[in-house]
Amino acid sequence: GRIATMDFLIDVICKLRSVFATINMESELKFPEIVVIGTQSAGKTSVIEGIVGRDFLPRGTGIVTRRPLMIQLIHTPLDDPQRKNKFDDDWATFEHLPDKNFVDFDKVCEEIKRETNESVGTNQGVSDDPIYLKIYSANVVNLTMVDLPGFTKVPVGDQPPDIETRIRDMAIKYISNENSIILAVTPANQDFAASDSLKLAREVDKDGDRTLCVLTKLDLMDPGTDARKILMNEVLKQPVKLGIIGVVSRSQKDIENKKSVDECKADEEIFLKKHYPDLANKNGIKYLAKTLNELLLGNICKVLPGLKIRIAKMTSDYERKFQILGEPIAEEEKDGKLVQIIDDFVTTLKDLIDGNSDIVETLK
Ligand code: GDP
Ligand code: NA
Repeated sequence: GRIATMDFLIDVICKLRSVFATINMESELKFPEIVVIGTQSAGKTSVIEGIVGRDFLPRGTGIVTRRPLMIQLIHTPLDDPQRKNKFDDDWATFEHLPDKNFVDFDKVCEEIKRETNESVGTNQGVSDDPIYLKIYSANVVNLTMVDLPGFTKVPVGDQPPDIETRIRDMAIKYISNENSIILAVTPANQDFAASDSLKLAREVDKDGDRTLCVLTKLDLMDPGTDARKILMNEVLKQPVKLGIIGVVSRSQKDIENKKSVDECKADEEIFLKKHYPDLANKNGIKYLAKTLNELLLGNICKVLPGLKIRIAKMTSDYERKFQILGEPIAEEEKDGKLVQIIDDFVTTLKDLIDGNSDIVETLK
């Protein structure tokens, strides 16, 4: 029950990837890094889990994320050789534990906490030394997400007096990467104009080209108020070209009651349809994931023209070879990996480049 449109995109990306690999262009296929920033408790962790489609991140009061967590999602089809004699389901690994595979995501969560405490202590210290986590699943697209410590103003516990600046500098470092997409998480039940995440995003992305505002906690707004004007982008003075998307994630009580990510998505949809009927299809975690996929596709489209030229040349080289060698050998050659891939996908690629692909339509 994860994101439906993903299957199709995953398929296209995998096929493209093998084309790129075959002609040694794999490094040109850049996947965006999604950097999630926001005030403590803004809902960052909830948004990331919604995108990934499962629970695996530590939660609680105070700063729970105290080291950057680099989450690399790795699409691993069910027939992938890496799975051999291993796992039927998703699994995860940490860079600091190279020999260990995690199939129980509660254990992933425990390990993040353990490793955090080990390096920065149990009493709220923070560090900019990242924890690297890889999640292997048939249901994800290849992308990297970075969960950062939330902004805080008042130091507590072991926190240094300059905690605010340190967390801020850490965020700046990650969002300064020009290939990153900034997810500026802002809770709807706080003053939108004073959003720390948007202020920070503006510092490195003045024109808002890489910024997407995620408005969390729509369900917690004061009675009689709503986020309509914000969601319609009539309030914000700074440009956020990737859009403003409202979401409803699980409340603390939902988490205690072990409400599933899927159940939460269903309830979110009901909420949006009730309170924002005309905006419901452009908001919600599912729409957010879809938008991120679209951005991913956009990155791919950027490199396609170069790919097209190389493939065209290779195709004509092969055709010439076939003509010289004669039909029987040519047929055999045509079973070869390269020719097969090219035959299968040159049309798809052409459609993508021309912008009249079903894929692009599907994602709209
Ligand atoms: P983070 O500190 O930014 O990572 O925030 P979390 O995702 O851990 O969320 C902080 C708290 O807010 C948790 O108790 C969540 O259950 C709760 N929360 C997050 N998003 C929502 C939401 O959309 N609605 C409600 N009611 N609670 C939310
Ligand atoms: Na968090």
